[in-house]
Amino acid sequence: MLKTHNCGELREEHIGESVTLAGWVNRRRDQGGLIFIDLRDRWGMTQVVADADGTPDAHAVAEQVRNEYVIQIEGKVRQRPDGTENPELATGAIDVVADTITILSKSKTPPIYINKEDRMDETMRMQYRYLDLRRPSMQNNIILRHRIVKFIRDYLDNRGFVEIETPILFKTTPEGARDFLVPSRLNPGKFYALPQSPQQLKQLLMVAGYERYFQIARCFRDEDLRGDRQPEFTQLDLEMSFVEREDVLQLNEGLVLALVEALVPEKKLLSKPLRRLTYTEAMETYGTDRPDLRYKLEAIDVSDIAGKSAFAPFQQNVADGKPVKVIRAPGMAGQLSGTALRKVTGELETLIRDVGAKGLGYIAMPLDETAEVKGPIGNKFTVEQKLALFERVGAEPGDLLLFTSDTREIVYAVVDKLRRELAERLGLIDPQLLAFCWVIDFPLFIWDDEAQRWDPSQHMFTAPMPEDLELLDSDPGKARGTQYDLVCNGYEIGGGSIRIHDRELQEKIFPLIGQTMEHATEQFGHILEAFEYGVPPHGGIAWGIDRLAMIFAGAPNIREVIAFPKTQTGADIMAHAPSYAEPGQLEELHIDVVADVLEEA
Ligand code: AMO
Repeated sequence: MLKTHNCGELREEHIGESVTLAGWVNRRRDQGGLIFIDLRDRWGMTQVVADADGTPDAHAVAEQVRNEYVIQIEGKVRQRPDGTENPELATGAIDVVADTITILSKSKTPPIYINKEDRMDETMRMQYRYLDLRRPSMQNNIILRHRIVKFIRDYLDNRGFVEIETPILFKTTPEGARDFLVPSRLNPGKFYALPQSPQQLKQLLMVAGYERYFQIARCFRDEDLRGDRQPEFTQLDLEMSFVEREDVLQLNEGLVLALVEALVPEKKLLSKPLRRLTYTEAMETYGTDRPDLRYKLEAIDVSDIAGKSAFAPFQQNVADGKPVKVIRAPGMAGQLSGTALRKVTGELETLIRDVGAKGLGYIAMPLDETAEVKGPIGNKFTVEQKLALFERVGAEPGDLLLFTSDTREIVYAVVDKLRRELAERLGLIDPQLLAFCWVIDFPLFIWDDEAQRWDPSQHMFTAPMPEDLELLDSDPGKARGTQYDLVCNGYEIGGGSIRIHDRELQEKIFPLIGQTMEHATEQFGHILEAFEYGVPPHGGIAWGIDRLAMIFAGAPNIREVIAFPKTQTGADIMAHAPSYAEPGQLEELHIDVVADVLEEA
């Protein structure tokens, strides 16, 4: 080994020992006769001193080193002189006086800061990702991710789960995105699809009798990217046989709680056991099925009161069965002048127009309880209506009451948008809080107006709730699925369901979602056939490991917890992927690239 200790290890108990350290030069301070080097490796930082009088050779080398050089030093650990200790540093009580310094590798001046946590241009960070990943904060994220996965593996192994790999070159496994296709040289004109998830294969593993399967699975989805979406990402994928919904929820909840306790004990859980919301509750109160429960800002239905107000759009909407909802933004109007209030509400209005709202009605509660309320719709309510309204929403002096009324879908979108924005503006988000919850009782289908058919709200293998089976014939839109989502801080962390294990039921679902039996057999014939050979009742879930790691790390997006992520356009700008293929490769694959695509490039 080229080192006896790492750079985070040395303490007062090592004083007097001869040690060899190796790592990167984090910073070098030349004070003439003394040169100080902060030597950094994955474990921490140690101060090294080169003394021109004591060890002139080491000092001469220290004069040449620059930031990010890789060096090895041999020397003796000593107590730092009085007053020079650094309590911020784990090794801050000591330093190492170098006897020899060897340069192992030189470095050009790095194009991004490694020893500073400044905001940096993300393009540069991606282009020089190996330098970006050298920064301690990124190393912490990547190592935290490793610990999460290791913990999960041990936890599940202890509970009888078997980790089984499934193929990457496979057939379409639809999860709502486009497939990535891979041409097959050996089968001209045919393509593999990269799995959007191992869904079909894990169900087949249940047919195969493994009973408890998991995999840290790479998944591929060709969809538009967002902060929490990458074209390739990692799932904890698991499936269990002979279980009901409650069994899967309990096992996963145990894992969530154990992970938090083991890996981020400094964080606070919103509730234990985890809160459960029905899909309808989540949509009606928070406007989304992945609500951020770190703050309240709940939407409160005031249709009955607003429908009787003198405000015509509310009257009309309520008569048409559309809701009127209010979000109470605590204290938001209190200090604002009329102009400032109009500015703030104008900004909020612009924001919600993006999701289809026609406008934003509001009432500003004065600080002085005897004063009149402000806002364009304040005078449209009678005194009695106002009292009823204020009581319903729990209005306090200085609050801003924001109204939204439209189709249910638009109201949901507005509520979601406003909640997220208001929470930021009002500083309501506690960064230490982990607001995990389960969302359950999803509708089995969602109506696709354009295609005039039902779409599975999760995927076509999700079983209906047993008590809703009859609704498949009479009123499919009302049937609930066995689906459950694990949500945290406004992100969907995981989703799963109890599966259909009965071929007859599966065959009933296909026509409802516009699949002909012929097409279904072509795509999923292997599953349908497998279902004829003894299928245990089964169910499972998949978690997004990237999203979980992002939340545990307190990172703003999943790129911060993925070693080599793609940019917004799905590119790796370090390695220049994707790239053009050699004509010879294309020929072997029997592929012609349309000429104008190449010309555009
Ligand atoms: P689902 O499609 O809900 O379910 O995916 C499960 C979880 O994977 C994560 N996820 C993503 N993370 C990053 N980038 C993406 N593009 C991306 N897409 C999804 C999310 C999500 O909750 N086979 C089913 C699971 C099952 O039924 O067992 C499935 O894949 O955190």
